[in-house]
Amino acid sequence: MQTSVTVSAPGKLLLLGDHAVVHTRPCLVTSVSQRMKVKVSLLDSPHFELQAVDVGINGYKKPMTDLGKNKIPKGAKFVEIAVRNFNSHYLLKRGVLVETSSEFSSNFGFGSSSASTVCIIKALSELLEIHLTKKELFDLAYKTVLDIQGVGSGFDIASAIYGGTLYFVGGGSVIEPIRVSNVPLVVGYSGQKGDTAVLVKMVVAQMKENPALYETLFDASTQYVEEGKRALVSGDFESFGRMMNKNEELLYAYGVETPKLASMIHAARSAGAYGAKLSGAGGGDCMIAVVSPEKREAVAKAIEKSGGQVIPVETNISGVMVK
Ligand code: PMV
Repeated sequence: MQTSVTVSAPGKLLLLGDHAVVHTRPCLVTSVSQRMKVKVSLLDSPHFELQAVDVGINGYKKPMTDLGKNKIPKGAKFVEIAVRNFNSHYLLKRGVLVETSSEFSSNFGFGSSSASTVCIIKALSELLEIHLTKKELFDLAYKTVLDIQGVGSGFDIASAIYGGTLYFVGGGSVIEPIRVSNVPLVVGYSGQKGDTAVLVKMVVAQMKENPALYETLFDASTQYVEEGKRALVSGDFESFGRMMNKNEELLYAYGVETPKLASMIHAARSAGAYGAKLSGAGGGDCMIAVVSPEKREAVAKAIEKSGGQVIPVETNISGVMVK
């Protein structure tokens, strides 16, 4: 039996449908070339050990029987709860050492927590020679996210597993790969960290106060996703950009656009992007612009001039992989 395995999974960017996807509406998500890497080793001693230097976790150790108990440091939560959830389904009978490293900063909002959750569960299933279907892997990883955050659509988990570009309906009732070769994006990091769980709960609270308005906004989101999907499949990035701009109006209405993101988005549009919007929960993290090859450089420069950091990414990348 193998005692050690390394697994990687891609980061993601939400193209359309942010927030509405939490409310069982569709979204479009693409995976990005920067990956999370996780090495998992089975130990003879009955302990859980974690090295996650990128998020400040060094030499974290506890008995396997204490998984999920007592205070868990922020950077260890997803890994520890993923191991606990796997263990409660498929008894490990051994200790586990997890070592994570990421090709991207956890500040970008590329989904480092969900990508590492997927890697851990995939790695443990490999080590125990248990064949998990993609959907079984999704269900166990999504449960881990809900156990920790209480809210979330699971789109980031699906992206880490399936890779490529997906049409995804909140909760995973539909996970449909979209045939595209590439989504030509320029990505700008705002330098601010958005708190996804806080923002999702804020929108939920607003929705409860005004359900009719939010139904209308989420219906509009659904329409933009459906039109955006058709545009992507036919390679019509101009129409896709228009849907991104319309989607940003909704994100503004939800109150999750920041002045910094707004100025980066407007700069990208003025420099000739087909469309631009924030990606994800908002409150910071990244914005994305869809561009023609001729405008790519001008858009990147405009984003930098407005104070953003351009992050070079390729899109539509393979999902979780065993090395
Ligand atoms: O902030 P991110 O990149 O994790 O994206 C969150 C997207 C939301 O739709 C706001 C939440 C979700 O789980 O779908």
